[in-house]
Amino acid sequence: MEYLPIFIQIKNRPCLVVGGGSIAARKVALLRKAQADVTVVSPELCDELKALNDDGAIHYVARGFEEADLDSCVLVIAATDQREVNERVSELAHDLRLPVNVVDNQELCSFIMPSIIDRSPVVIAVSTGGSSPVLARLIRTRLEGSIPAAYGRLGKLVERFRDKVKSAFPTVESRRGFWEKILEGPVAEKVFTGHDNDAEAMLDKAIEEQSQLPETPGEVFLVGAGPGDPDLLTFRALRLMQQADVVVYDRLVSPAIMEMVRRDAEVVYVGKERDKHTMQQENINQLLVRLAKEGKRVLRLKGGDPFIFGRGGEEIELLAQEGVAFQVVPGITAANGCSSYAGIPLTHRDYAQSCVFVTGHLKDGSVDLNWKALAHPNQTVVFYMGLHGAPTLCKEMIAHGLPASTPVALVEQGTTPQQRVLIATLDTLLDVIKNEDIKPPTLIIVGEVVSLHDKLKWVEEHHADNVDGVFAYRDK
Ligand SMILES: C[S@@+](CC[C@H](N)C(=O)[O-])C[C@H]1O[C@@H](n2cnc3c(N)ncnc32)[C@H](O)[C@@H]1O
Repeated sequence: MEYLPIFIQIKNRPCLVVGGGSIAARKVALLRKAQADVTVVSPELCDELKALNDDGAIHYVARGFEEADLDSCVLVIAATDQREVNERVSELAHDLRLPVNVVDNQELCSFIMPSIIDRSPVVIAVSTGGSSPVLARLIRTRLEGSIPAAYGRLGKLVERFRDKVKSAFPTVESRRGFWEKILEGPVAEKVFTGHDNDAEAMLDKAIEEQSQLPETPGEVFLVGAGPGDPDLLTFRALRLMQQADVVVYDRLVSPAIMEMVRRDAEVVYVGKERDKHTMQQENINQLLVRLAKEGKRVLRLKGGDPFIFGRGGEEIELLAQEGVAFQVVPGITAANGCSSYAGIPLTHRDYAQSCVFVTGHLKDGSVDLNWKALAHPNQTVVFYMGLHGAPTLCKEMIAHGLPASTPVALVEQGTTPQQRVLIATLDTLLDVIKNEDIKPPTLIIVGEVVSLHDKLKWVEEHHADNVDGVFAYRDK
């Protein structure tokens, strides 16, 4: 981020606006909305500001800007049409470490003003970092339309009941659970339809009833996060990602997806790179049980689909044994994501009538597969975790009857901005892996369907190391 969005408390605090024209008037209006104590310095005032001055709503100093005007103010906005004056205000304010905004001159600003959607106490600020005010306004317009004005009244209702709820529900988790139900349920609906008194009565009743209930037990959400692109998450995954108290994730979950997890959730990284398990599987299983038994909603977030080479089965086995509630949310597995984004259909009437997913990495590190069943001319074989065992893979597929010229695709970091697709054959695969410095996570697709890549590829590759969104292991 180029800028940190923050909300500043300026109620009753002295703020200075330099300039007396219509742009200055707009800034004054904003500051007054936030209940600031506004002083305007300018030789002249536009009608709007004159009216405010006549009403005693602002302090007015009728002259040009002077250094001493900055004394004791907490924030300053320069909105004159004189470049030198704006520059001077900016320079002096920077010297004093005073937040300064100069209208239409981002370089002179220490803070910029966002587009605002005001549903006070709910306020949404949209900024494009100054790059496109038009885009910010467009986004604002969309949000305006989708966030009813009643959200402000809902926010006020929550404000009024905050202390009551705090004393009725002793733990953070229980309060959070209570508010989530309220804000998505009939109480909120009452507010949206203008029945605020009914909403208050219902909220009182809900506090009384629900605070008597025993604490809700914890639960584990075993969720497939897909191969990397956040757009490939399911709706359900996203919903549970927003509800979790704790997130337990491993290296295949891309940072772009982690960005979408509830902000205040506790986050536990459990690694799991080949041969470098940050936390042993047994310990992960135990951790899930312990967290759920503490009453937490635990999001176990896994790359791809949890039940495809994801050890998801092992994790819920212990949960079932321990009587912990859980649910499983499928994700798009790497084979689906990578093949789609590489333009390689896994089956095709002319080339492959079956498709097999196999792991190139067995429990003991060997690659002992049923090669006879895999080496079929009209079959696509997708190898997960296949890089390490690639020499065996090529040797055995050829030894069991596939031509050495059978096309093979390597899809590295599929579906992410760093996706690379490299095409080889069974007898050139090892050279390509070595020469192109292929790294995990990479999927290996073997079969005639790979020949369609050239015609059907549609994702542009950037080959950029500096694009955000790489997997965690790349940072090490
Ligand atoms: C332990 S398996 C996990 C598979 C995951 N559960 C799934 O359904 O995709 C890890 C392997 O999946 C493959 N993989 C996962 N995400 C990938 C991606 N974005 N690009 C390429 N391969 C990926 C790689 O072969 C990697 O070694």
